[in-house]
Amino acid sequence: MRQSIMTYGFFSFIGSGFVKEIRAIKGTSDILPPQSYLWQYVERVCRSLCENAGYLEIRTPIFEETALFERSIGETTEVVQKQMYTFTTPGGEQITLRPEMTAPTMRAYLENSLHKKGAFRKFYYSGPSFRYERPQAGRSRQFHQFGAEAIGSKDPLLDAETIILAWNIAEQCRVPGLSLHLNSIGCAECRPKYRESITAEVERCLPLLCEDCQRRANRNLFRVLDCKKETCRTITAKLPPIETSLCLPCKDHFEKVKEIISRHINNWKPDPHLVRGLDYYTNTVYELTAKPLGAQDSIGGGGRYDYLIHDLGGPEIPAVGFALGLDRIILALSKTEAQCAATLQPRITVFLATVSQNERDFACNLLIRLRTSGIAADMDFEAKSLKAQLRQADKSKVDYVAVIGQEEVQNSFVKLKDLASGTEERISVDALTARISQLMADKRA
Ligand code: HAM
Repeated sequence: MRQSIMTYGFFSFIGSGFVKEIRAIKGTSDILPPQSYLWQYVERVCRSLCENAGYLEIRTPIFEETALFERSIGETTEVVQKQMYTFTTPGGEQITLRPEMTAPTMRAYLENSLHKKGAFRKFYYSGPSFRYERPQAGRSRQFHQFGAEAIGSKDPLLDAETIILAWNIAEQCRVPGLSLHLNSIGCAECRPKYRESITAEVERCLPLLCEDCQRRANRNLFRVLDCKKETCRTITAKLPPIETSLCLPCKDHFEKVKEIISRHINNWKPDPHLVRGLDYYTNTVYELTAKPLGAQDSIGGGGRYDYLIHDLGGPEIPAVGFALGLDRIILALSKTEAQCAATLQPRITVFLATVSQNERDFACNLLIRLRTSGIAADMDFEAKSLKAQLRQADKSKVDYVAVIGQEEVQNSFVKLKDLASGTEERISVDALTARISQLMADKRA
């Protein structure tokens, strides 16, 4: 028996009691049309530019063994300490929803022995990632990354290639107010030197730093440099930049990267205190920002990570890459190009309108025939009057309406109306596909 359902705000009254409506989890969101078509557009730009540069798609699972992220991102990072969605499966395994996609890509590279079949590989990926952060505009708990990783070369030209690729994607998506912040955090040789040069000052300021930094200072000084709290930032901004401690090869590497990107990117600046929030980086690190986004303005970031594959149990293979935050790119676009999404949504070419309910079977057969021939076609499924069907066709901006009445069914034809020109013609059902294809080709020409 059908139960009556009445809705009062978040609650529905079903049969004998109130039932709380189930809503999306905090920090996640639904992407509805036409916005979903803006997403498809951005994803198409990302894919096409990456494939144009020789990157191939890799798809890895959404969850991984927790140890993968602890070992790669680093146990003292915010991500590992506070933001991971970790759970124990009924089988007793420790699983984490991926908070990022670089570590899974490297795990897949090793697990599939790709390094044994020619170490140099270029991958791109796209998909949701999960971090338990405080949700706000541009920061969510499920967000979407598009990234690219080039594995198997130390060449600074490759650092530059990935930076320029990320920049070109953002530019081609027309992200407004773009800028690039660039730094080098050196290698395992120069970092102890830097640590030594700032330890005394950090220790002196320790009581003024936040609780997290006080806790982390001993274990990983770089995490203090990455703290986003204003009080800590004021202190760390006065520390000498890491560039002063770079060894000669790291200095040369960084100079080469800067030289190349200067030729291709007009709005970049050195950011001597940029270290990034993940432990695996070495040498080049960078972030792309979009001005209209305010507090959460980083639309992407990346860098080199020459030790990660080794730290995951593989050979010493260097790598470099980036990930763009698609949610933030869309947010930046929505602020300037809100109408753009609607124009990207696909449209139906021909709408079959029936004079009465009696012609619906005939219309349905014709609908399937048109769709099988590749023509986007639709009809009414809500028993609407002819007038309401025509209104619906007009609202959905279809190109043609085929009107079907009793006479049309008896003689196997339709009245085809071109909504742009207002012209109408009588076409036999057998000739309809060819006629619509020809009309569309004429319009495109
Ligand atoms: P990441 O900087 O942590 O780097 O994330 C990359 C981008 O993902 C950020 O710039 C931001 O746009 C987006 N993002 C991160 N967290 C959130 C969030 N809670 N809500 C919305 N967007 C967010 C990485 O993940 C590295 N794996 C990048 C990389 C690839 N490095 C080398 N290769």
